[in-house]
Amino acid sequence: MTAGQRVRSLALAAAAGLVACGGGDFATAPTAPTATPAAGPPGTEVEPLAAAAAGAGKLVGAAVQASYLGQADYAAVFGRHFSYVTAEWEMKWLPVQRQPGAFDFSGGDRIVAFAEARGMRVKGHALVWHGSTPDWVNTLTAPELRIALEDHIRTVVGHWRGRVHAWDVVNEALADDREATGDGLRRTTFYETLGPGYLAEAFRLARRADPEALLIYNDYGAEGRGRKSDRVYELVMGLREQGVPIDGVGLQMHIDSSGSPTAADVAWNMRRLAELGLVVNISEMDVRTASQPGDTATRSERQKQVYKAIVGACVAEPRCDAVTLWGFTDKFSWIDKQFGADDPLVFDESYRAKPAFFGMLEAFQRR
Ligand code: G3I
Repeated sequence: MTAGQRVRSLALAAAAGLVACGGGDFATAPTAPTATPAAGPPGTEVEPLAAAAAGAGKLVGAAVQASYLGQADYAAVFGRHFSYVTAEWEMKWLPVQRQPGAFDFSGGDRIVAFAEARGMRVKGHALVWHGSTPDWVNTLTAPELRIALEDHIRTVVGHWRGRVHAWDVVNEALADDREATGDGLRRTTFYETLGPGYLAEAFRLARRADPEALLIYNDYGAEGRGRKSDRVYELVMGLREQGVPIDGVGLQMHIDSSGSPTAADVAWNMRRLAELGLVVNISEMDVRTASQPGDTATRSERQKQVYKAIVGACVAEPRCDAVTLWGFTDKFSWIDKQFGADDPLVFDESYRAKPAFFGMLEAFQRR
């Protein structure tokens, strides 16, 4: 049986089933988790970031991996400081549905359980992304891919229905400036097989599967002013005008401490997205410093100022609901693999709070 035949048969069978749990009202103000008692690594001895964020009416989050939650220091520092969690890997298509119809929710379930036990909100990441799609999806015909997309979104969103504050429904659908042609959309399997309408289809499927969750378009390199930022703005404005159920935009914020994008440009971009009726969030922030001049102390101070300024832009924007870091300790960051050794986050490898942590704290406290 080909992948396509498996998809068709499974989708027909699955069409009858629908996992339903109670919806939740996520509109209430964020609540900071109760602070864990000050014990363990240094990071548990500084005041909880989540309490400061809640004072500003914001969620503060981090991407985590289920396999790290078994490490006591990791769990203690993450549990103390954050009110929002994103699965760095475990809720993506590839780990969840490696083969048609064979769903594995175990990693995501572990992260969701950890979050719920501490009063944290959950960000689902990511339903449709070319960067984490199993090979079998790339072999499907258009009718088969349409069925597979519906089956995946209905099953995954349905599995965590009522327990996810927001879903990154489509991630990184726009091409980078050097590749952008025509409509500016990235030529992924979804685009090539289903056409540009796949974005609207994905959002409509997600809304049907969980009417409560905020539905987000998430991208990078579009945080401040620029052509890709304009393409994101035009894309989501078009989706809204078509009546597509999109609620917000995630600005990934994978940046360095050079000062680009400026906080003023990020604030300007957030405001124009907000004026479309959208919420915005900073979804994957890390601030690389290795390429910057100066000694460690100088680079750490600059990194602090960047965190403070960018988080300050979210604090000042009423429609910015959250700041999420992509990891939280330099012990575990994708940056080291992607760009070489760096220290882009707010706790060091021994879970000590860095100047960057205090930059975030001061921003949330409007100091
Ligand atoms: O967990 C498995 C492990 O069991 C296995 O032994 C190992 C070797 O195959 O792979 C492990 O999975 C890896 C996973 O990270 C968890 O560490 C995957 O191979 C690897 O591809 C995956 O990379 C993630 C990447 O997205 C692709 O999904 C990175 O951690 C994650 O930081 C990165 O995050 C993306 C966002 O989702 C979207 N925005 C850009 C960002 C950075 O690329």
